[in-house]
Parts: sequence; structure tokens; C-alpha cells
Amino acid sequence: MFSAEKSSSKEIIMKKNKKDLLSIYDLTAADIWMLIQNAVKLKKSKKATGKIKGKTLGLIFEKPSTRTMVSFATGMAQEGGTPLILDSQKLQIKRGEPVYDTAKVMSRYLDGVVIRAFHHEYVQEFADAASIPVINGLTDFEHPCQILADVMTIVEKYKIKSVKDLSKLKIVFVGDANNVANSWIAVSAVLGLKFLLLGSKKYAPRQDLLDKALNMAKQTKAKISVSENIEDIKNADVIYTDVWTSMGEENEYKERHETFMPYQVNDKLLERANKNCIVLHCLPAVRGEEITESVMSKQENNIFDQAENRLHIQKAIVVYLLQK
Ligand code: CP
Ligand code: NVA
Repeated sequence: MFSAEKSSSKEIIMKKNKKDLLSIYDLTAADIWMLIQNAVKLKKSKKATGKIKGKTLGLIFEKPSTRTMVSFATGMAQEGGTPLILDSQKLQIKRGEPVYDTAKVMSRYLDGVVIRAFHHEYVQEFADAASIPVINGLTDFEHPCQILADVMTIVEKYKIKSVKDLSKLKIVFVGDANNVANSWIAVSAVLGLKFLLLGSKKYAPRQDLLDKALNMAKQTKAKISVSENIEDIKNADVIYTDVWTSMGEENEYKERHETFMPYQVNDKLLERANKNCIVLHCLPAVRGEEITESVMSKQENNIFDQAENRLHIQKAIVVYLLQK
């Protein structure tokens, strides 16, 4: 991590002319609904909007990625723009060039940038210095683009027509209170959803994040709860899971494996939920850990549709952020 210099006031004024997507909290409920509707339209029409033709999007990845990298790159190409996949190991930032300088220079070449980083602060620092939109492609803190595709998938599967209808579903995230779970808590607060995080207290959500969501829930009527009790999965319409050991946490593997085993998404757990409950997973999945082979294979239509929706939502995101 390299520290940025302070931005001048002129730059702060300029910054207000661009939008970033670093957290779900950067979006209003209306923004989220608009992005989902636009993604659904793009999925159906298969035509470019023509709004970002000729634009260039940089993709800086500090960690591996299949879906996020390929869907942003393909989405840009389909929209008539150019994606530039940049291995962070090969940029001068690796040799110590400050984030501030990198962001300033990238802003002279590119029209937007997606960053996947170990530390959220790095993406924030980049966004503060950049005059182009910065998109969080996953940090230790949030994964906002993933969650937009997830909500889009639920909207499609349940033929949801409004945020109000969406709020009637019970959505349960089972497992680790990680970056994906944090974005789920945030989207539930913003949209006013019924959301339960089911997992061990040992890896519970950060209290400040929960407090922020619960505070917003007072206005949006979201029902956000956290539980260790497997029985609370009853009446679930959506079960969502993710790996127990996220990228960067590999040294905690053994302890996490033991802690989360009771929270495995398997056929027995599904029997406790609603009969037609759908299972989603952001992928990559570790079969036999957070989800069994049996559940993966029964639910693969939902899970791969969810992965496909990354492409459609990325297109809606870049059109929204990059068009003038
Ligand atoms: N779900 C997700 O972000 O996948 P990748 O790590 O392959 O991008
Ligand atoms: N929580 C996982 C998500 C991968 C898309 C990780 O950060 O590794």
C-alpha cells in the first residue's frame, strides 16, 4: 500500500463531476433498480446502446478473477469500447509508484477503471485521486458489482416487478460475513429487503457495518438480522453462499473449515427452507465445503444464470458511469 498526497481543492471540485462505484452505498434504491432494468433490457436486445462507443476501460487486478475480468472486458467490447486488462504486477505501482501518481496518469488515458484489490483503502485512494470513474471489482470490504448481478437474478427468477415485491422475499446468506456478505447487508439496507446472515459468531459482520445498515433500515424498512441458529433458515426464498476462506485468508483455512462445517449448504439444510427456494453462489465454489456437489448440480441453472448476469449488469454499470 502506498500513500497518496492530499488532493487540492480544485481537484476535489473536479471529482464531483464523476461517479464511482466503490460500495453499494454509492447507489440509491432508484439507481439500483434502474441498473437492473437496463441490464435486463441489454440482455434481451443484445444490441449496443452506442453510449460508450470508443471509450477505454482499464482493468487492474491484484487478485485472480474469471467472471469479473471477463464480463467487464466482454461487456466493454460488446458496447463498442476497449477493455485494457492490466496485471497489477506489471505496473510501476508494483515498484512503489504512488497510487496518487498512477491514478492521475491513468485518468489522462482511460475513461474508467475497474480495480480488484486486497485492501479497500487502495481503491478508495485511487478514486480520490482519479478524475475518471473507479469501479470496485472486489476488495476485502465489498463486491458491489456481484451483488447487483445477484439481485438482478432474483428479480428474474421470481418475476419481480418492483422493489416492494422484492422486499417480500426472505433472503438468507449462509456462511462467512465476508466482502460479498457485506455488500448483501448494504443492498438490503438500501432497498429495504428481508435479509438474514446465518453463520458463526466467530466470523460475524463488523459491528460498524451492521450499525450503518440498521440505521438506514429505519428509513427503508429493511429487516436485517444475524443468527447462528440453522433453524432460522425456515421460509427462505433465496439461499446464498460463498467460500468460507476468501482470497487473502488462506492461512485461516483450517479454522474456518471447522467453524463453518455446520453451515454447509446441503440437501438437508434445503429441506428446512421453502420448497421452491433458489440457491445462488457468486462462484468460484468449493464443492464439499460451503456447498455440496448435489446442491450445485440441482441448482446449476440458477447459479450459472447468475454468473451470466455479471455480463449484463457490467454493461449497465459502464454505460451508467462512463457515458458523458
Ligand atoms: N464472483 C466473482 O467475482 O468471480 P471472479 O473472482 O471469477 O471474478
Ligand atoms: N469472498 C470471495 C469472493 C470471490 C468472488 C473472495 O473474496 O475470495
